[in-house]
Amino acid sequence: MLFFRIRMKITKQFQQLVTRNVLGIQIKRCRDVLLSILHFVRLNRCFLAAVFSILVIDSALPADYPQDREVRQEQDQATSQSMEKSIGFQIGKAIFLDTNLSNPPGQACISCHLPQYAFADPRPLSIGAIKERQGTRNAPSLMYAALIPSFAYDDFFTPDGDEIYAYEGGLFWDGSARDLFEQVQKPFFHPNEMNLKDIHDFAQRLRQSRYSNELRQLVGDIDWVNDQAVTYQAYLALVTFLRSPIFRPFDSKFDRYLAGDLESLNAKEKRGMQIYINGGKCNDCHPLSARHWDQPLLSDFGFDNLGVPSVGKPDGGLGVHTGNREELGQFRSPSLRNVAITAPYMHNGSLKTLREVIEFYNDRDTPKSRWKQTDFPETVNRDDLGNLKLNDLEIDDLIAFLHCFTDQCIENMREGERFPVPPKGTPSTEEKSLYFPGWTQRLHRSFEHRTVQD
Ligand code: HEC
Ligand code: HEC
Repeated sequence: MLFFRIRMKITKQFQQLVTRNVLGIQIKRCRDVLLSILHFVRLNRCFLAAVFSILVIDSALPADYPQDREVRQEQDQATSQSMEKSIGFQIGKAIFLDTNLSNPPGQACISCHLPQYAFADPRPLSIGAIKERQGTRNAPSLMYAALIPSFAYDDFFTPDGDEIYAYEGGLFWDGSARDLFEQVQKPFFHPNEMNLKDIHDFAQRLRQSRYSNELRQLVGDIDWVNDQAVTYQAYLALVTFLRSPIFRPFDSKFDRYLAGDLESLNAKEKRGMQIYINGGKCNDCHPLSARHWDQPLLSDFGFDNLGVPSVGKPDGGLGVHTGNREELGQFRSPSLRNVAITAPYMHNGSLKTLREVIEFYNDRDTPKSRWKQTDFPETVNRDDLGNLKLNDLEIDDLIAFLHCFTDQCIENMREGERFPVPPKGTPSTEEKSLYFPGWTQRLHRSFEHRTVQD
């Protein structure tokens, strides 16, 4: 019985063998291949439709089949306006800031995801719209959150070459939202968060908002009375906003180093990088190489129980929604981008500083250990961490390296600025659309009301 996830430590060559390169993306799964073919077809549907119609169905359809016209209009719209300036982006941004979407009013997404902390919450646990209510988890950074792969049960290879299956990805610390579309629906109705009664309550507030005219354009006049259709467009708009370049600038010191500017890291930071890869084993779960995106996200998005100190009631994490006892206490490995400014740390905010995090990894299983009892001791990963034998100087170097993951544009934000400005040349969402295989919105009852490019 596997009590915790066996980590893949496969060699580069082996990795290349198991990953295929389709349309320029590293694709590991059959499902992903199918999805990308679907996406390719969707993106190129005018072209493919033309070829297909010439070859097969030309004679079967009237010349100006209405559905074709719609497809063409949508395509034109998508190519003529960049996603970032799109109405979806503007509405998503407005919703992100709108404090009237909570009960009582006063709380918005930005209340717990603060831009100057890379959209994380500096409080260990967030407070809800009802001030007496506190959540049970630390609000993570939203930088790069749209790039987290969908929840999947995936095959991996052990160092001995054995194939094993493990969970990967998904939003929230426990991966319980399959993707971003599913995630953005939750905060509105969570009693510890924005606390709205139901989707009718939400739709009514959207209809009365400052941006209701723009939203109505997306929803259409006929469906404006339909709560499902109105809220559906609001979720899509939030997804569009979180996918925008604001949240994926890739302009940290480490990115400059990767781009070839070897002097961007000083000697101490370079020593820290060696410790990250070797003595600290951080690279095993927070890899410096690109995997799910064409730049490194500093996470393999696998699940583990690190045995972090308990806070409040036990939190079963992944095990609660998979129903497997051996996964109790497991949480998704987070991206370490901007980690220097997202304190406190871990799913329950139990560790205050980066030094505490590394000391925890270093001496959890030694007599020096000063850490409290954990929720699920029986599933803790005792192989990859707990007794790293790093000395104080090495810990200093490692911390210096973790500071190189901070995006320049967030550091540059001045007092009062709401959002960081990504560097020029950050690709648009359209250019990256193949990397964003949204699919759960298709399961939504209002999918037929879709007008935003997804
Ligand atoms: C009351 C505070 C609060 C508010 C308001 C809030 N969030 Fe969160 N958010 C959290 C917490 C706490 C988590 C982690 C919860 C978990 O993992 O179970 C989280 C997680 C997330 C995640 C997942 C990130 C990841 O790495 O998995 C996203 C995305 C997100 N929130 C977006 C939003 C959006 C969009 C809104 C507004 C509609 C919003 N949040 C409103 C506290 C908040
Ligand atoms: C076995 C996999 C694994 C290894 C090895 C590993 N981590 Fe983690 N890391 C995780 C997981 C899983 C979490 C989330 C755990 C939780 O919240 O309970 C995490 C969380 C973190 C966090 C908290 C981030 C946040 O936003 O709260 C930091 C910082 C971190 N790791 C740094 C490191 C460093 C530095 C190393 C090397 C010394 C390292 N990790 C090694 C899996 C790993």
